[in-house]
Amino acid sequence: MENVTILDHPLIQHKISMLRDKNTGTNEFRNLIGEIAMLMGFEALRDLPLMDVEVETPIEKCMTPVLAGKKLAVVPILRAGLGMVNGILALVPSAKVGHIGLYRDEETHEPHEYYCKLPSPIELRTIVVTDPMLATGGSAVAAVDFIKQHGGRHIKFMCIIAAPEGVNRLHEAHPDVQIYIGHLDRCLNDAAYICPGLGDAGDRIFGTK
Ligand code: PRP
Ligand code: URA
Repeated sequence: MENVTILDHPLIQHKISMLRDKNTGTNEFRNLIGEIAMLMGFEALRDLPLMDVEVETPIEKCMTPVLAGKKLAVVPILRAGLGMVNGILALVPSAKVGHIGLYRDEETHEPHEYYCKLPSPIELRTIVVTDPMLATGGSAVAAVDFIKQHGGRHIKFMCIIAAPEGVNRLHEAHPDVQIYIGHLDRCLNDAAYICPGLGDAGDRIFGTK
């Protein structure tokens, strides 16, 4: 599928297996989410535009590439997406951070917005939306809808585990969005949880429930 990339590097796969383990505690879980986000970011950002600038080395002047233009915006979907932010900021410390607050209704599984704050000018930035879980795709589609309503154009969506249902829904709603996935799981269960998945990502990152 065009614009859908599965980042199946052995380091990412190994760390995802540790995340899945129900005996992995909050601190280790949180650290793993950050490490996986950094490894995924390394690949997902390989098309960032560059421009040449002049630098004087101890030997001579040369033209050498740096990141061009307005840089990155990282936009986590609250809460669980927050866990991925520092991994990306470790790669691009100058990135700005927006926030989109969404929660899934437990009965309908539909997303509800409770917060949206994006850095400006959003239209000039490459925007990386982060959420460890792409399940039904409702939250991801709503987040990208908001970002586009605010003028965002160049959008990447990064998730650690996805269900086929969510990938299809996001890709159909927003075929221009580049989707990066750590692992594509089997399916959703009746409660719209990903199988085998890792459980509730927000609760495991923040130690709630
Ligand atoms: C989880 C997850 C995604 C969403 C995915 O968040 O972090 O945002 O569910 O499900 P979907 O693809 O079916 O929309 P949740 O709503 O549980 O909120 P939380 O991060 O605050 O726990
Ligand atoms: N949200 C989660 O945190 N986990 C799932 O499996 C599905 C949605």
